[in-house]
Amino acid sequence: MKIICAENYQEMSEKAAAMIAAQVIMKPQAVLGLATGSTPIGTYRQLIQWYNEGKLDFSQVTGINLDEYRGLTGDHPQSYRYFMQRHFYDYVNIDPARTYVPDGADPDAERACRNYDQILREAGGIDLQLLGIGLDGHIGFNEPGENFIGETHCVKLTDSTLAANSRFFSEGEQMPREAYTLGIRGILQAGKVLMLADGRDKADILQQAFRGPVTPRVPASILQLHPDFTLIGDKEALRMLLS
Ligand code: PGA
Repeated sequence: MKIICAENYQEMSEKAAAMIAAQVIMKPQAVLGLATGSTPIGTYRQLIQWYNEGKLDFSQVTGINLDEYRGLTGDHPQSYRYFMQRHFYDYVNIDPARTYVPDGADPDAERACRNYDQILREAGGIDLQLLGIGLDGHIGFNEPGENFIGETHCVKLTDSTLAANSRFFSEGEQMPREAYTLGIRGILQAGKVLMLADGRDKADILQQAFRGPVTPRVPASILQLHPDFTLIGDKEALRMLLS
């Protein structure tokens, strides 16, 4: 595991974007595993800037997202499909047919998850997986539990996740309580894994995940076993891990 300490959010985002850019330049047909949340927004902004400057070409890239709320269609402003369009895909030359997010509109969880595993297989796996980390240690929406679940599955979101993400939903709006998420195998099979974390709130969970035991109670801890795992955090997020 490699830990890179950035001065602040901007520097974290630039370093992350540089790793993704290197992947795309080395392999123009790269399969990128992509993440939503507030953490990677600056990374996408930097990639868009380099694309606009003619430094990057996404025309052959495939994007496979980690997760989606069950019950939201892609045009819902809080859906992760909508997020990806608004923060990244609408501004670069990626082929829309090669961008994937689990189908939150499919009420048949089993079918939606098997279809997503099929997409992952057909893409040949992920070259570089971008991740955030939840305050409860989730990666994608793999929430703390008794076991690691390998394949794409439907999860019940924890109270911690519901509380953290409710800020994005308008008052009175019912927030989905379930999501479809790539499983631990899909994430761990990626050639490279890149996690981003910023802010004081993440310090404690990073310490648990990477200084504690590997346990499904802290799903991110499984990344200790990945052969090419990089964590880029700002000083605040890494303050306990590096002390
Ligand atoms: P955040 O979410 O980027 O909004 O902190 C991270 C996550 O839940 O994975």
